[in-house]
Amino acid sequence: MPVLTLGIESSCDETACAIVKDGRIVLSSMIASQADFHSQYGGVVPELASRMHVEAIVPCLSETLKNADVAYEDIDAVCVTKGPGLVGALLVGVSAAKALCEVKNIPLVGVNHMCGHIAANYLTDTSWEPPFLCLVVSGGHSEILLVKDYSEMSCICSTRDDAAGEAFDKIARVIGLGYPGGPKMDKASLDGDPHAFSFPAPRIADSLDFSFSGIKTAALNTINHMRQQGEEISIPDFAASYQDAICSILCDRMDKAIQKTHMNKICLAGGVSANSCLRKKFEELAKKRHCHICLPKMAYCTDNAAMIASAGYYDYVHGVRDGMDMNAYPSLELGV
Ligand code: KG4
Ligand code: ZN
Repeated sequence: MPVLTLGIESSCDETACAIVKDGRIVLSSMIASQADFHSQYGGVVPELASRMHVEAIVPCLSETLKNADVAYEDIDAVCVTKGPGLVGALLVGVSAAKALCEVKNIPLVGVNHMCGHIAANYLTDTSWEPPFLCLVVSGGHSEILLVKDYSEMSCICSTRDDAAGEAFDKIARVIGLGYPGGPKMDKASLDGDPHAFSFPAPRIADSLDFSFSGIKTAALNTINHMRQQGEEISIPDFAASYQDAICSILCDRMDKAIQKTHMNKICLAGGVSANSCLRKKFEELAKKRHCHICLPKMAYCTDNAAMIASAGYYDYVHGVRDGMDMNAYPSLELGV
């Protein structure tokens, strides 16, 4: 009998539900995004996000089941993001999942949001299995993980300051692209020259760790200097150069991680994995180092519930169950 997992995701500004078969096949995936609403404030307003999740969660659940032609009785486990994320937002998904499990007598599995992002690869390539190296790059995370098994991973390196997504979002705001900055910078850069501006590469001795503060400060200084001089900034050129610099840092560390671990399977995870420049550079790296590669499907790069249902499936089949005392954990770390 196939195992059906229901995924629920509400850690930031997307209310999402999905039904996944055997951890790999997406039967339906719905996302109610609040991004347009929050863009007027230049970022996510947590209290408003929670209220919007409350309004969206029940319609999102019923649509998801209807689209998959699945009844609550057919679901083997409810897998919900328990952290990290905004606590009020997470609590909406966690409370809905707990209520559903209690009323319909379905097992509950709490999922780490970042494990969910990694699982986007399992939905993309149904034969993709650990062990592999994963570059996890989202709004709050930048790290390279050695994924040894579905629930066993170790951290090779991480960021000393900002996450890659934050580095995109902050500079995108300063150059007037608005929120969310990453996708807007990606789009703006399409017509730009990646060599028009140069930014310093971080040097951290004896470590593979990332740092984006230097490059961010250099970008801010360039913008301020040009504005003071009354010079016009070409947004496509600036976006293309800044994006190229960030993606070069990410791929340089990945290259070193491949050499350090001798791992020949590499993949991406997290919202920034949707970035066209990063995907291109990552493909070039895989070719150079003769690695098998998985690039998550665009639909599963940014927050969605199919990835949560997939990650939760592997916990479920390994016997993981959570109780009704499960909470939302805003700073939940990966079990590394
Ligand atoms: O994984 P995600 O959807 O949410 C978190 O878990 O944080 O990632 C959101 C981040 C944001 O910083 C957003 O700007 C970035 O991913 N992002 C991108 C692109 N699409 C989303 N960054 C660069 N290029 C993109 N195409
Ligand atoms: Zn995310």
